[in-house]
Amino acid sequence: MAAMRWIRVAGEAEFETRNPIPAAAGFEAVVVAKIGPNYFAIEDRCSHDDNPLDEGDVEDGQIICPRHGGRFDLATGEARRMPAIAPVRTFRTKVEGGAVFVEVEAE
Ligand code: FES
Repeated sequence: MAAMRWIRVAGEAEFETRNPIPAAAGFEAVVVAKIGPNYFAIEDRCSHDDNPLDEGDVEDGQIICPRHGGRFDLATGEARRMPAIAPVRTFRTKVEGGAVFVEVEAE
């Protein structure tokens, strides 16, 4: 099993003015969204045509790709609307000391 590490994404307060928030986490580009009290992280790359997802709106537990409107379930990574079909990867999150972290493979 690959070694993992936690990367700080942003302070919790930052999600009040921006949601979702992208982060470079080692080899990964991830985007973290807040829904209610919970944080969800997925890869910041649409499975349809590689567009970043971090400029997309968050709605009904999903993030909407700003390019063609594909949607992804933030909890599972599953594609919910065409033209996106394949899922995107998900990552664990945690809150510690008022900041949000995402777990990625260690470099
Ligand atoms: S690049 Fe995201 S739906 Fe096409």
